[in-house]
Amino acid sequence: MAPVTVKKICCIGAGYVGGPTCAVIALKCPNIIVTIVDLNKSRIDAWNSPDFSLPIYEPGLVDVVKEARGRNLFFSTDVDKAIKEADLIFVSVNTPTKKSGVGAGFAADLNYVESATRRIAAVATSSKIVVEKSTVPMRTAESMRTILEANSKPGLRFDILSNPEFLAEGTAISDLFSPDRVLIGSLQTPEGLDACRSLIEVYANWVPKERILTVGLWSSELSKLAANAMLAQRISSINALSAICEATGANIDEVAHAVGRDSRMGPKFLRASVGFGGSCFQKDILNLVYLSESLHLPEVAAYWRQVVIMNEYQKRRFSKTVVDTLFNTITNKNITVLGFAFKADTGDTRESAAITLIRDFLSERAHVTIYDPQVEEAQIWYDLAEAIPDTPIEQIKKQVTIAPNALDAAKNSEAVVIATEWKEFIDIDWKAVYDTMNKPAFVFDGRMILNADALRQIGFKVKTIGRGEKI
Ligand code: UDX
Ligand code: ADP
Repeated sequence: MAPVTVKKICCIGAGYVGGPTCAVIALKCPNIIVTIVDLNKSRIDAWNSPDFSLPIYEPGLVDVVKEARGRNLFFSTDVDKAIKEADLIFVSVNTPTKKSGVGAGFAADLNYVESATRRIAAVATSSKIVVEKSTVPMRTAESMRTILEANSKPGLRFDILSNPEFLAEGTAISDLFSPDRVLIGSLQTPEGLDACRSLIEVYANWVPKERILTVGLWSSELSKLAANAMLAQRISSINALSAICEATGANIDEVAHAVGRDSRMGPKFLRASVGFGGSCFQKDILNLVYLSESLHLPEVAAYWRQVVIMNEYQKRRFSKTVVDTLFNTITNKNITVLGFAFKADTGDTRESAAITLIRDFLSERAHVTIYDPQVEEAQIWYDLAEAIPDTPIEQIKKQVTIAPNALDAAKNSEAVVIATEWKEFIDIDWKAVYDTMNKPAFVFDGRMILNADALRQIGFKVKTIGRGEKI
């Protein structure tokens, strides 16, 4: 049988992965009808909003949606119809870390993947290529196939592919336009390889063929976990070194620069920070730890676990530095936190280091004022309520203020803490900020974005992560 030519794609899950990925597929493949579906009606309404107030903030995304929506890109809550019509289905649903039961705190919660798969089996009336896009534990493809084969109508074929997404938030559109690689895993059977060819033809509309890598299913699933684990490991390595820099007077920026100039190493992902966040790194490492333990490989599990332990240490170390520097107490002091997103150029707050810092400051009974250019107020309250479950939200609200801009946020505060590397924080009128603050006025730069010398000239006391200067 020749590979199927894909004419209709359904993407289940209109989130950070499914939304941008399939919007770009629609843009680049005008001959394919792409329908992105989600159970969450308000999310779909936002994707369809006439003024393009999309549910996620991602530079360049609006332009993609403007061009393709209504042409060959559609957003809908009619999951069944889109499944029925599609030749190829991307499963891009969330796979958070389990909160209870076996593997709680480590294993991925596959409930959403399973429901989506069961829905495909229940409503499909023709054969489909089913593509796992969400990051999943190894061998999820096998579970999906078992569910599909056991529940579908007779005579239908389901070929499962693994096609992990490597985009990073904030640069999703350029990552999708010009990916380092597209990875497709399939069973190495004639049918599996045909399905793989069908998906290659979709990507070949804009991705050079030499960048499309084809591997076995299990290698593909593991490669995604491996890539994220190794990226996170680099950050934990540089963060571990930042602690040594602070204790010795070395400068982590200089160390990273020197190390990164080794062409075997390269300069990227060596920026010390207040700790990595995001929906992937921690989740995927914990997944790897769980997998290693299930495979009776405790040393391997311990090795990867240490990357997460180091990240937690980095966050705690930073909040402790703030308390120690402010004369060992921040009780009743005003602390301004600039940035709440887990990185710049996104409104996503999942696992953001800012949340841990703020929780620490609140437990010291400080008053915290937060400003972030993209994160919605409701999201901040939601995250703080989740992070501090023992305290009623009304109580948290007495200790926390959300400000409309950085200058207002810093008024009458003791210290400004940079938690996210938003570019606009570099361009703040720091003299004006200084004038409104209590003295001595402190700046704690957890992202190494500010010019510490210039701030000192204004009068600030400055602590930058990874630098050992005394203040
Ligand atoms: C990551 C992977 O990069 C991407 O390939 C995968 O598909 C999903 O997970 P993402 O989480 O969106 O992407 O952002 P990324 O740019 O990797 O940053 C993750 C975290 O690490 C952020 O909190 C960021 O601030 C931090 N980081 C990144 C550092 O602290 N230092 C660095 O040098 C780089
Ligand atoms: P990611 O970052 O992996 O894209 P998100 O949480 O942003 O994760 O998006 C996943 C989306 O998948 C959510 O909008 C959620 O409502 C949707 N979803 C989960 N399960 C299903 C399902 N069975 N059918 C349709 N949509 C689903």
